Amino acid sequence: MEAKKVQITDTILRDAHQSLAATRMRYDEMEPMLDLLDSIGYYSLEAWGGATFDTALRFLNEDPWDRLRNLKKHLKKTPIQMLLRGQNLLGYRHYADDVVDRFVDKAIENGVGVMRIFDALNDPRNLEASVNATKKYGAGGKCICECAISYTTSPVHTTEYFVKYAKTLEDMGADNICIKDMANLLMPYTAYELVKELKAELRPETKVHIHTHNTTGTGDMVYLMAINAGADIVDCALSPLGNGSSNPATEPLVATLKGTPFDTGIDINELLPAVEHFNKVAARLEKDGFLSPKVRRIDINTLRYQVPGGMLSNLISQLKQAGQSDKLDECLAEVPVVRKACGYPPLVTPSSQIVGTQAVWNVLFGRYKTLTGQFKDIMLGKYGAVPGEKDPEVMAMCMKGGEQVIDCRPADLLTDEMDSLTQTVKDAGFYTCEEDVLSYALFPEVATNFFKWRKARDLAVDTDMAKNPDKVYPV
Ligand code: CO
Repeated sequence: MEAKKVQITDTILRDAHQSLAATRMRYDEMEPMLDLLDSIGYYSLEAWGGATFDTALRFLNEDPWDRLRNLKKHLKKTPIQMLLRGQNLLGYRHYADDVVDRFVDKAIENGVGVMRIFDALNDPRNLEASVNATKKYGAGGKCICECAISYTTSPVHTTEYFVKYAKTLEDMGADNICIKDMANLLMPYTAYELVKELKAELRPETKVHIHTHNTTGTGDMVYLMAINAGADIVDCALSPLGNGSSNPATEPLVATLKGTPFDTGIDINELLPAVEHFNKVAARLEKDGFLSPKVRRIDINTLRYQVPGGMLSNLISQLKQAGQSDKLDECLAEVPVVRKACGYPPLVTPSSQIVGTQAVWNVLFGRYKTLTGQFKDIMLGKYGAVPGEKDPEVMAMCMKGGEQVIDCRPADLLTDEMDSLTQTVKDAGFYTCEEDVLSYALFPEVATNFFKWRKARDLAVDTDMAKNPDKVYPV
């Protein structure tokens, strides 16, 4: 076997606590271990983006941009990786291209060295603006452009489909291709086949990066098979916040590969102080009610129904609210029907909620008797293109009110927003730098509350705050 070092991205600073503990790890809980983590020899440390931005502002009274700058002060050798949802950035709608451009520029300027970009539907047009900005501002090795494929299972999501999409992303400028399996639906032998094909079809310099979780208990096997097939990098989380609905734990994989042609080069002994430290952080998160032992268990329902765990719990709670809990099996049978009608979108946020809610409404009120607004939008192309054909009869129902189908890139319908957003932040008296405008663009209410808190702190007008600088103000 040809010797080929496998590299590890550690997600302890982002996905690990997002998946297990509502993204509640604070910067001061990261800082003591940053120099050590920087010295381990990881490919990257995923530390920003995803839900960290929103949570820092909303619950921790932490400016996410300050967090990024502080991380960068310590992480001198290891690139900081962030997760970016294409044209949605870190928010929940499509932003105009000028906001995407400014956001990516500022993220790279403040320290992001691996930009992982994905779109829930796998519509390459939704990645275009962020890929272009990453190539522009990250040129000269400043930031790697990693495009991720939202992994899912359906009759149209074949190995051939994923490889074709990966090649499109490579042609757009991706340096790395990531298979992003957020629900742990990827099975080990499929992973082997997929990685083999990707390595055969992509350029030799394009790295293949695998991201899975251990929700269904197959994560470690997925990694081993993917590595045997030639995967270059895998995402793990240090054991204190690894496994379960988080990513597979780092240390067992390091030990598994030790002395093999895939040896990661990481010395497990050097990880020990970090393991000890993050065990204490995990205990704090558990004590504060953010980490429940339940999320560490294997979720066999995801294996049975092929729907992500989060989607299943949404279905259960919607039915419970409607007093119709006995209809779960019917709803689970309706999910593939609805998903087929709207062209098999991957079941990830937001499409998992859109398909799930329409399935519940179909069961409760009769099939397509009542359509949710979001279901109409996905049918009409407002989120972007889906991989399969849409059902023409259902489409006709969605267009009854004179609605039009959009087939252009959704962001082409948006006009530039930065000038008016900047004016709004300035008029409110909160402007200190362009990053403030970007925080406001993503989460207007949450950012406004944070700016108020920051102003009160800086001016020390709030006597309570002066006495108690660490007080977290509910927003
Ligand atoms: Co993940």
